[in-house]
Amino acid sequence: MAYAAGVDVGSTQSKAAIVDEDGNLIATALDETGANVVQAAERVYEQALRSAKLREEEVDYIIGTGYGRYKVTFGNAQVTEISCHGRGAVKMFPDTRTVIDMGGQDTKAISVSPSGEINDFCMNDKCAAGTGRFLGAAAMALDLSLAELGPTALKSDKPVRISTTCTVFAESEVLSWLGKGKKLPDILWGVHQSIATRTIGLVRRVGLDEKITFTGGVTRNVAMVKALEDRLGIRLNVSEQAHYFGALGAALFALDHILDSRKPASSAEVA
Ligand SMILES: Nc1ncnc2c1ncn2[C@@H]1O[C@H](COP(=O)(O)OP(=O)(O)OP(=O)(O)O)[C@@H](O)[C@H]1O
Ligand SMILES: [Mg+2]
Repeated sequence: MAYAAGVDVGSTQSKAAIVDEDGNLIATALDETGANVVQAAERVYEQALRSAKLREEEVDYIIGTGYGRYKVTFGNAQVTEISCHGRGAVKMFPDTRTVIDMGGQDTKAISVSPSGEINDFCMNDKCAAGTGRFLGAAAMALDLSLAELGPTALKSDKPVRISTTCTVFAESEVLSWLGKGKKLPDILWGVHQSIATRTIGLVRRVGLDEKITFTGGVTRNVAMVKALEDRLGIRLNVSEQAHYFGALGAALFALDHILDSRKPASSAEVA
């Protein structure tokens, strides 16, 4: 049995995925990227190998992706995260036509063809508004953990309207609402709704085609999933593995390489 791996070194978290030669996802691993990007890539890949109970030499090809893809020093090649998220999303949800990848630094909207090729994409390149970082700033201001954000927000019955689009100002706006006596869930639900509104603006730029698959770390936030679904009026494709879809896509590109190298010469060449 041959194995292939993908390592997605994101600006915030590093993810690894290993697939077998049938393309089944057999292991994943996650760690903070931190300051030493090369080590983060190594750490997360070793973790995935341990979880798959594989030795390094049993994995035939490794592709790096994400902002730190060139720091995957043990990798064989690199592929952009846009392509990898598209590929991973289509593998897990074959009806995917649009991908929303919400990570720590950026949000990306990606339009994919039925076979998983990228038609178009768009990202919030100006600042971190509408991303995990914006949520992280709100969590810090409110002294909550990331995992508490979503469940707390969903307790809201009267969300406040968050006007800032800037991470730097998010903290002071959140604190000023607290000072005005607004309830924590209402402030947080407002934060999620404001991010959802901006994200959908981004998605419209690539075309809002059903079915939409949600990928990246913010998929772990139940309130973000609900805010997007409410605004869109449709259910999103999302799963517990969605944080790993970029790494999975990279592993599938690595598997393509292994399978292509096994193909016999084409009949035209033989003739
Ligand atoms: N358990 C959790 N609950 C809520 N949010 C979470 C959780 N785990 C991660 N996140 C969110 O996911 C973000 C990281 O997502 P991801 O790993 O996709 O980012 P990244 O790939 O490093 O960033 P980018 O793609 O922008 O470079 C964190 O900033 C955080 O907001
Ligand atoms: Mg990412």
